[in-house]
Order: sequence, then C-alpha cells, then structure tokens
Amino acid sequence: MFSLDSILVLFLLFNSARCLSIGENSAARSLTTQTTSPSTSAVSVALGGVTYVNKGIVGFGLIPSNFTDSLGDTLGGIGSGIAFKQATWKSLSNGSYTGTLVVHPDRGYNVISTVDYRSRQHEIDFVFTPYNGTDDLDFESAQTTLQLTYVDTILQFDRGGGNTSGLDALAVRAAENGFPTVAVADPEMPIANETYQHLTIDAEGLIAASDGSYWVSDEYGPYVYHFSANGSLIQTIQPPEAFLPLDSNGDLNFTSVVNPTTGRAGNTGFEGLTLDAENDILYAMLQAATIQDGGDDDDTSLYTRMVAYDIANATVTPPTMVGEWVVPLPVSTSKSKTRKCSEIHFVSENVFFALSRDGNGNGAGTSSSDTTSKYKQADLFSIANATNIAGSKFDDPSNPVAPGGVLDDSVTPATYVSFVNYIDDDQLARFGLHNGGDEDSTLVNEKWESLALAPVNDPANPDDYFLFTASDNDFLTEDGISIGVPYNAGVNVDNQFLVFQVTLPSVSPGTIQQAIGI
Ligand SMILES: *[C@@H]1O[C@H](CO)[C@@H](O)[C@H](O)[C@H]1NC(C)=O
Ligand SMILES: *[C@@H]1O[C@H](CO)[C@@H](O)[C@H](O)[C@H]1NC(C)=O
Ligand SMILES: *[C@@H]1O[C@H](CO)[C@@H](O)[C@H](O)[C@H]1NC(C)=O
Ligand SMILES: *[C@@H]1O[C@H](CO)[C@@H](O)[C@H](O)[C@H]1NC(C)=O
Ligand SMILES: *[C@@H]1O[C@H](CO)[C@@H](O)[C@H](O)[C@H]1NC(C)=O
Ligand SMILES: *[C@@H]1O[C@H](CO)[C@@H](O)[C@H](O)[C@H]1NC(C)=O
Ligand SMILES: *[C@@H]1O[C@H](CO)[C@@H](O)[C@H](O)[C@H]1NC(C)=O
Ligand SMILES: *[C@@H]1O[C@H](CO)[C@@H](O)[C@H](O)[C@H]1NC(C)=O
Ligand SMILES: *[C@@H]1O[C@H](CO)[C@@H](O)[C@H](O)[C@H]1NC(C)=O
Repeated sequence: MFSLDSILVLFLLFNSARCLSIGENSAARSLTTQTTSPSTSAVSVALGGVTYVNKGIVGFGLIPSNFTDSLGDTLGGIGSGIAFKQATWKSLSNGSYTGTLVVHPDRGYNVISTVDYRSRQHEIDFVFTPYNGTDDLDFESAQTTLQLTYVDTILQFDRGGGNTSGLDALAVRAAENGFPTVAVADPEMPIANETYQHLTIDAEGLIAASDGSYWVSDEYGPYVYHFSANGSLIQTIQPPEAFLPLDSNGDLNFTSVVNPTTGRAGNTGFEGLTLDAENDILYAMLQAATIQDGGDDDDTSLYTRMVAYDIANATVTPPTMVGEWVVPLPVSTSKSKTRKCSEIHFVSENVFFALSRDGNGNGAGTSSSDTTSKYKQADLFSIANATNIAGSKFDDPSNPVAPGGVLDDSVTPATYVSFVNYIDDDQLARFGLHNGGDEDSTLVNEKWESLALAPVNDPANPDDYFLFTASDNDFLTEDGISIGVPYNAGVNVDNQFLVFQVTLPSVSPGTIQQAIGI
C-alpha cells in the first residue's frame, strides 16, 4: 500500500507530533529537532536551519454563541477565515493592543441541510492585553485578555449585484465575461428578480489586501473570489483541472454531498488562503488530497496541494499561476488518519503555518471521545526544496501525483514540522480552559480554521509576533436565527479566539507590518 518513502514520512510525522507538548521532557524520544525549554515552557522547532519558538497562549476571547449580526442572523462560523483590517493594528503605551479583525463565516447553520445564507464578513474591534504569567486565570478573567466588540457586517454580492448563497451547489453557470464556470444553487429554487441563480460560496479563507479589497477562498469550486471593499465581486480564480470536481463524464459538478471522480473531495476545498504581501503572491491550499491523489479515504489523503498566483495589479492583469507544490499532512499515531489542514499563513519566503486538526472538541458531540482533541496544531512547512509542479502533467486529473496516497518518485514534497500545540493542558488551564471531559463553555472548540499575524513591537524580542486564531462553531446555539428563522441546535458553542506568542526569526523586518498596513 505505501512506498518505503511514505512510511518514512509517516514515521517522522508521528514522532514530530508526539514530541510536541509544552513543558514535557521530550529529550528521551526526540527523533526530530524538537526541543523544549522548561524554564520558559517555550517550545522550539528547527526548519531550514532556522529555530522557531512558541511561547504559549497569551490571549483568549469569545463572542457568545447566541450573538446576532446586523442582518439579524446568528453570528457564527467566524473562525473560517480571519484577517486584520488594513491599518488598524496599534500598540498602546499601556501594554495593550487594539485593532479590527475582519472575520468570515462559511455557509450558515447547515447541520440539517444547507441554507440560502448570503456570503458576508464581519468587523470585530478588539482590545488585547497579553497575559504571559504562570498562574491559572479563571475563565472570566481570561476573557479580559482579548475583548471583542462586534461592529458591523458587509454582505458579498455576485456580479451584477445578485445574491450569493450557502446552498449546496447542484448546478453550474457557464463561463462568461472573463469569469470561469461557477457553482450555483439548485436551479429548481425560485428566485425572483435576479438575472442569475445564486452563486454558491462556502468561504474558508480570507485576505485583507492593501488596496482595501478582499480575497475569499471557497470549498465548492475550489475557487478564490476577489471582492471590493463594498462586497462586489471583481474576479474569480479557477485552479487547474486537477483540482476541479469532475464527474465520471469529465463534467464539473460542485456538490459537496457526493465526491467527484477526480478533483477536490466534498467539503475539502480551499480551506487555506494566504498572501505574501511584499511580492503580491497569493497561496491557496486544499484541506487534503484530491480524489485522484488518495483523497477519498482519510488513510490515503496524505498529500495535499498548494497553488500560488501572482496578483500584482490583479484587476489590470488577471492573476496568473506561478507555483504548485505537494504538502504532506500529519497523521494520527493510532489510526493512521490524516489530520486535514484548515488554514495556511505566509511566514517568510517559502515558509508557512499550516493549521491541521482532528474533529474532536467543543461542538463535535457529547461523548468523552468526542470532547478530547488529539491534534490541533499550527505547524510549519517549507517549500524551499519542494518540486514546483505548476503546469506539469499533474495538472491533468488523469495523472495523479500521489495515487492511493503514494507520492510520485519525481516529486519532492514540502518539509512539514510540528509547532504550536493548541491543546496543551497547562497552557489551556492558564486561561480557564480544558480539553476533554464536560462539554461546557470552557471546553476548547473543535474547529480552529484561521490564522493572522501581528507584530509584538518589543525591542527586546524583535522577532516576536502574535498569532491570532479563531474557531468555526458551526453556528451551534440553542437560541439561533438562520436567515430569519429561529432554530435550536441543542448545544451552545461560543465563537472562541486564542492568541499565541511566537518567535519567527525568518521574517524580514517590516514585512508583517506591511501586510497589515501599519
Ligand atoms: C533544503 O535543502 C538544503 C540542502 O540540502 C538544506 O540545507 C535545507 O535545510 C533544506 N531546507 C528545508 C526547509 O528542508
Ligand atoms: C445570549 O444568552 C445570554 C444567556 O442566556 C443572555 O443573557 C443574552 O441576552 C443572550 N444574547 C442575545 C443576543 O440573545
Ligand atoms: C490600555 O488602555 C486601553 C484604552 O484606554 C484600555 O482599554 C486597556 O484596558 C488598557 N490596558 C491596560 C493594561 O491597562
Ligand atoms: C512577560 O512579558 C514581559 C514583557 O515582555 C517580560 O518582561 C516577562 O519576562 C515575561 N514573563 C514571562 C514569564 O515570560
Ligand atoms: C437578496 O436577498 C435579500 C434577502 O432575502 C432580498 O431582500 C433581496 O431582494 C435579494 N436581492 C436580489 C437582488 O434579489
Ligand atoms: C451533481 O450531482 C448531484 C448529486 O449526484 C446531482 O443531484 C446534480 O444534479 C448534479 N449536477 C449537475 C450539474 O450535474
Ligand atoms: C420582481 O418581481 C416582481 C414579482 O414577481 C415583479 O412584479 C417585478 O416586475 C420584478 N421586477 C423585476 C425588475 O424583474
Ligand atoms: C463597489 O465598489 C466597486 C469597486 O470599487 C464599484 O465599482 C461599485 O460601484 C461599488 N458598488 C456600490 C454599490 O457602491
Ligand atoms: C502595476 O501597476 C503599477 C501602476 O500602474 C505599475 O507601476 C507596475 O509596474 C505594475 N506592476 C505589474 C507587476 O504589472
């Protein structure tokens, strides 16, 4: 089933994952470069000759599960994608930081069925006062470290001002006017006064660009949509055919319910989206392998793909693909299940965060096996030595790059190392949180799916950054409203946010500042 190479990769991944527990003495079984520093409880990892350090959790905040947005719908799913609104991040002289986060939900409350939820993003102001003490805060005090205040919601619209939808994409709209063939809602659905069927978007990634526009990645396509600040659709990026969901006749079918014959698996589209702002290169990554690369099974969904587009002057010169790489995903020790990747974030040339996780935690269910997360990590990977397969035969779906999960001999994948562990018990306890056990508001959430970086601005630690991360709570509340209709999901899962402090020596001075417009 597996080649010798892939067994070696799995073995290394198992061990790098096992060695990462903050404060744990990992020396005895350290087969990787992982080391711990007990005095500070920091965790460090080497990648490409650079040592990166996780200093632990420094902030926690939440928005209650029953909060409603300005359109009257429950505010949920907002950790699908987050970004700092350009030019808002500020260090105050009293040690706090303020700014505005733009957060993007996915496709509305869809536990029972998908709904006609219009794509939107919210602005959330914050006051962040980092806590790096060793005492355990109680849950109430922990929430004062990251205070979140909802400001407003901006809807996103299809071209011509049409509404978008979260409904399953059962139909296609042909390519026209510079836009590719896109996913649209059920043609049987009566829609008054619109030229087009609703464009369906299941948003999972967000970039706030320096010109005020936004890029949103989606799972149906998998596509990347470019919206102006007011939410008008400007352009749409369609990846190579190898990524697109094709049925057995080679026709596009964007449904998330049935897996295609080749291309992205259902609900496994572009979860990852990030920007190298200095060079205007946008990166999008599939949550796990395409079907032809083993993506129909968690046991073989080991190798995902990341694509890169040059978006300099995107509205004048349409984005062009400039790279494509294979990225290995971590695998569980016990069951050999792939930990799919919910987000990526650009760090420095060739280096990225990858937020990979299991499906346990708050929101996953009520049995203890569901509430105990086993893997939630913002890991690092490098494409420095990886093969760029853009434009190669692997862009044709009939040439898999990893059939059955076995990587083609001609391709070197990215180097992936374990880094920031979300579910370290001691770190969680410092903020009144826990992993496993009772499903209450202090249980760490299941679906962490977003990352954003900002500078600490500490002259004593010039390479330190804050890594903000938020969870998608699936709109789970007992007191919900979904497109005007009340619902009870039977459980309350708040919108949780965490902030870690990390040392990233590979970042060139000023680049994170430039990316967030400060
Ligand atoms: C890439 O390869 C070079 C030369 O073998 C090595 O020094 C470097 O550490 C590698 N980088 C990564 C990220 O693996
Ligand atoms: C949410 O629930 C809490 C606790 O039941 C309640 O105090 C609050 O008013 C509710 N908020 C909204 C917006 O419904
Ligand atoms: C710093 O000032 C801001 C604005 O007045 C305030 O919200 C924040 O709580 C203060 N932080 C500290 C640590 O006092
Ligand atoms: C907390 O942060 C302050 C300011 O950077 C620093 O002086 C102090 O050493 C830190 N404490 C710990 C326990 O890391
Ligand atoms: C979009 O949906 C809203 C809410 O259902 C509706 O009021 C509006 O008329 C729709 N817009 C168009 C262009 O159909
Ligand atoms: C896509 O597949 C679904 C499920 O099999 C089916 O209901 C739908 O009609 C198909 N759509 C197209 C455009 O073929
Ligand atoms: C919108 O729909 C209403 C009701 O069907 C109809 O009376 C009206 O003419 C339509 N407007 C446009 C611009 O199509
Ligand atoms: C939204 O912004 C676009 C591009 O900036 C502009 O062309 C359009 O007129 C604006 N639409 C509205 C409704 O303000
Ligand atoms: C982008 O546009 C600016 C201004 O028109 C121009 O100076 C620059 O060369 C363009 N860059 C690219 C990559 O086309």
